[in-house]
Amino acid sequence: MNASTSPVLEACGLSRDYALSPGLFSPRGTVKALVRASFDLYSGETLAVVGESGSGKSTLARLLTLIDKPTEGTLRIDGQEAIGAGGAARRRLRRAVQIVFQNPYGSLNPRQRIGKALEEPLLVNTKISAREREKAAREMMEKVGLRPEYYRRYPHMFSGGQRQRVAIARALMLKPKVLVLDEPVSALDVSIRAQVLNLLAALQEEYRLAYVFISHDLSVVRHIADEVMVVYLGHVVEKGPREAIFSNPQHPYTRALLSATPIAEPGAKRERIILSGELPSPFNPPPGCPFHPRCPLAFDRCRVDEPLLEKKRGRDVACWAAS
Ligand SMILES: Nc1ncnc2c1ncn2[C@@H]1O[C@H](COP(=O)(O)OP(=O)(O)OP(=O)(O)O)[C@@H](O)[C@H]1O
Ligand SMILES: [Mg+2]
Repeated sequence: MNASTSPVLEACGLSRDYALSPGLFSPRGTVKALVRASFDLYSGETLAVVGESGSGKSTLARLLTLIDKPTEGTLRIDGQEAIGAGGAARRRLRRAVQIVFQNPYGSLNPRQRIGKALEEPLLVNTKISAREREKAAREMMEKVGLRPEYYRRYPHMFSGGQRQRVAIARALMLKPKVLVLDEPVSALDVSIRAQVLNLLAALQEEYRLAYVFISHDLSVVRHIADEVMVVYLGHVVEKGPREAIFSNPQHPYTRALLSATPIAEPGAKRERIILSGELPSPFNPPPGCPFHPRCPLAFDRCRVDEPLLEKKRGRDVACWAAS
């Protein structure tokens, strides 16, 4: 990390509650989808956000891309306060942070040719001519490894991996500083997955992009993350440099996630930790540490007091049992 440059993304205590309307079987209440998430992200670096389904990853993605507003907390994009920004400043900040979803099919218009889909952000946000738009789209297609003749094709004519290349190209058309990648390779076969990860790495280097890479699978982020943030029921339970998290995880939840991923070295053995119990609902979270009902190390204090993030062994960890 370079101390002389400032972060391109600074999240401070971002929380998002969702109000639940009362239904036939459910009372009125709030879901704490995300609780006080903080991080700094620098150009050219990748923050991986890892956690099970429902842990608040996409909620964070919506806050970072200004699609949704936090209940509490602040966000600075490129040094500028983003939550309260309006008008032209807000439009500029929205352009700076773009998103790629797991299933790009949902965000591509089935009746729009790929070339036009790539040109659309330029059409909406800039005044450049049709000819310049086509040139920019064709250049970007080449950058992401799409052949020129695909310019006139429709989304259904592409494979999953190609479609994800289109989504990445589209997200880059407005020259953002940050890409939020919400499970970008989760729907792809393993071989295709590696190709898309390689493409992302090359693009990051070329454009000095910062990535927020969301995944439910720690093994996917092993080679691409600089920092890893592990979330459980909306809470950040451990956050630190990739090396620290993978070689010496401190939170029992991180250890459990890691024990479920394959080991690269042949012959190496690892104790497999099976988590007991279901992921509790964030609508009715347990008191104390959110992880205690499933934690093999839980003791009395964990059932009443919520541990906050503390620096231990070169990372932040929220656990009473971590020393
Ligand atoms: N608009 C909403 N209204 C009410 N609850 C919501 C809303 N959006 C998300 N939630 C709830 O917030 C919690 C976090 O959801 P989120 O989609 O952020 O999780 P996630 O980590 O992205 O999960 P997945 O891995 O399944 O994509 C979930 O309990 C979800 O039901
Ligand atoms: Mg999600």
